[in-house]
Amino acid sequence: MRIYFRLNDEPTEIDVDPADLLVDVLRLKLGLRGARPGCLQGQCGSCTVLFNGMLAATCMIPAFRAYGAEILTIEGLMQRREYQDIDRGFERAGTRPCRFCAAGKYLSVHALLSSSSDLSDESIHDTLAGVWCRCTTHERLVRGIRYAADYRQRRRQRGG
Ligand code: FES
Ligand code: FES
Repeated sequence: MRIYFRLNDEPTEIDVDPADLLVDVLRLKLGLRGARPGCLQGQCGSCTVLFNGMLAATCMIPAFRAYGAEILTIEGLMQRREYQDIDRGFERAGTRPCRFCAAGKYLSVHALLSSSSDLSDESIHDTLAGVWCRCTTHERLVRGIRYAADYRQRRRQRGG
């Protein structure tokens, strides 16, 4: 079947099979490899996108469900200034994400910072719980997110 949707702000159409998973269509048919297959059980976060504004595990979504949807992948986020805020935040905290966890971390933090200016410890904890990573400390990630929030706020105050 042919599906139509918006992908990283661009109208997109593509043929998919009923059994295709969205993660595979993004990677293999559309060449967007930032969402990566990991656990394939909706747990690890490595295949994350924003699907109609919500965090979603593309390993759990049949591709045909994308019909009419708005999807933002990490490649799309990288074109936005919000990405730089998060990237600088992680870098300053000394915890740059690897390719396995990058989609989950950047998109989760983007969703968090976009939904609320109130960064409670609980909301940060919930954000980090959706992305598997044992390469860094929870404290560094929390610091990185708080730095990112600060960069985003300062950029907005400058009108950027
Ligand atoms: S591969 Fe999709 S959540 Fe792990
Ligand atoms: S899994 Fe990517 S930095 Fe830990």
